[in-house]
Amino acid sequence: MRKSKASASGPLIRTESDQVIAIDGPSASGKSTLARMLAVELGWIYVDTGAMYRTFAWWCAALGLDVSDERVVAAELARWHTRLLCTDGQVHLLVNGYLPQNEMRTQATAEAASKIAVHPRVRRWMVARQRECVRFGALVMEGRDIGTRVFPEAAWKFFIEASMEARRERRGGPSAGGDLAGRDHRDSQRRGDPLMPALGAIRIDNSAETPNQTLKRLLKIVRDSGGELR
Ligand code: DC
Repeated sequence: MRKSKASASGPLIRTESDQVIAIDGPSASGKSTLARMLAVELGWIYVDTGAMYRTFAWWCAALGLDVSDERVVAAELARWHTRLLCTDGQVHLLVNGYLPQNEMRTQATAEAASKIAVHPRVRRWMVARQRECVRFGALVMEGRDIGTRVFPEAAWKFFIEASMEARRERRGGPSAGGDLAGRDHRDSQRRGDPLMPALGAIRIDNSAETPNQTLKRLLKIVRDSGGELR
């Protein structure tokens, strides 16, 4: 076990953050694919925090709530029944026992998630649930604020980037991916925990790489610093 907190005067102390790899980056940067592959390679648990924001945005939209209205959606946070479930190496957020899947992956839900994620009360609720995930084991968690807010002391922090051209291409061509620039702007300019590289994060530009090539780079960094020992 490396990276435990050690000092000349005290014993090694193992903290929850030693069990976390934080991966942040913009939409369509390839971070989800990478995080999922990394978790499988290491036998760790994968957490897609964007899916949590999407679930809430989808739920609010289905109820006909205005996702731009913080007061309205915050009231729903106090009402909805949710549960974190860890299955097949991945954590899911269930709402009323239901796991939304395809309905979460539409352009409309992506837009709504980006809008709902600007509200501080929504972010507080999400961050609390995301921190709870350590009870499931060692985590590879991806999102926008994992290294800056959710687990600022994570043992490994990566910031994944790619050119706009590469990101559009991955979403299916030059005009695909909806309003990526608009979501970038909203995600990186919001007041609460905007998207940015965390202090000490390793920045990885994968524009010219396949997922496997980037995975190898990440695995090397993690393994060279003892990440398989737990
Ligand atoms: O990663 P994604 O595209 O599924 O995320 C959907 C939206 O959720 C994204 O536009 C911003 C928001 N989000 C966030 O604000 N913080 C996170 N940790 C993850 C996602």
